[in-house]
Amino acid sequence: MKSEKRTVYLDNAATTFPKPDTVTNAIVRCMRESGGNPGRGSHRMALRAAEIIYACREEAANFFGADGAERIVFTMNTTYALNIAVKSVLRAGDHVLIGNMEHNSVLRPVAALAEQGKITYTTFNVRGTTEEILGNIRKTVRTNTRALVCAHIPNTSNVELPIAEIGAFCRKRGTLFIVDGAQSAGHVPINVRDMSIDMLCVPGHKGLYGPQGTGMIVAGSDALLSGNTLMEGGSGIHSLDRRMPDVLPERYEAGTLPTPAIAGLLEGIRFVKRIGIAEIHDAEAELWHQAYDRLSEMPSVQLYEKKPGGVIVFNIDGLSAADVSELLDRERICVRSGYHCASMAHRALGTIKTGAVRASFSVFNTQRDIQTFTDAVRKIIHERKKELLHS
Ligand code: ALA
Repeated sequence: MKSEKRTVYLDNAATTFPKPDTVTNAIVRCMRESGGNPGRGSHRMALRAAEIIYACREEAANFFGADGAERIVFTMNTTYALNIAVKSVLRAGDHVLIGNMEHNSVLRPVAALAEQGKITYTTFNVRGTTEEILGNIRKTVRTNTRALVCAHIPNTSNVELPIAEIGAFCRKRGTLFIVDGAQSAGHVPINVRDMSIDMLCVPGHKGLYGPQGTGMIVAGSDALLSGNTLMEGGSGIHSLDRRMPDVLPERYEAGTLPTPAIAGLLEGIRFVKRIGIAEIHDAEAELWHQAYDRLSEMPSVQLYEKKPGGVIVFNIDGLSAADVSELLDRERICVRSGYHCASMAHRALGTIKTGAVRASFSVFNTQRDIQTFTDAVRKIIHERKKELLHS
């Protein structure tokens, strides 16, 4: 009997797969046993759900160095978190500084406010040494720069920005510091207190191994308390007031929270803590080295970076990124191609005309996965050469 080929999942920067069993089991258990609406009643079922939500807030606050469980605002994903962070605190006439490799989840909310004529923004180069990056920021910062928003690690690169140093600079001059942790949460240590981050926006479903539909703002200061709300509705508290409560996290959590998803996220964070950030980082870097060594032996493969980390970005001469991804999918290998919702990053990498193919790793990937993936790339190149010979 012919055995079916294994699927190799290398699109973990988009969302991690698989999830730990503890995550999946917690979601199912919550659906079965804790189905009340958290914060919306005092009966036992509502309380059971509220306990799960609170436990996840506590775990996340502890994980990211926030001063208390109430400083975790749950959102649907990082994009929602960034929209709330950016739009709640910016005021007419403000200037914003963003990195030059930002995902659309940073660029678009900022650009939308600029198009409405409310704010202006400029970019700074995120590559170079810490001193060079700080120099780039000093050159572009203005007297009315109210916020600096940047990715900790861009989604098509392993460049890690010197967040603590940028945070210290921002704190000193009273600039709000908003960090997109979409690709760094669960991969490298983040502490909002030590890094002077006002608002850290993270996904639950990537490096924290929770389910899709989860994300958070980790408030590192009181900046959010007086911010504008983007969404209004039931909060479970201050029900007689027409306005949203001016306390965290309720001010930004209108409507029913996804308790089963948050139950999963709680176990995801516990999973990362059990394994350890350093171990996760090292395991991913090892896979990267293996992939890099093998791909760099192939003359038709263009690689764009030499820094080890969670992603490897490449193109194959004579084939579009979309074709490569489709050919890999035929071999049951899942990667993401194109612009990765990040035109700025592709401009910085020099791939704005072509896009690129991105393979991204998680702790569940193995050396065998990388072997299968790089063998498939070799096969694609070989078949392309044969095609050219016969055309
Ligand atoms: N932002 C996610 C990615 O980089 C979806 O693929």
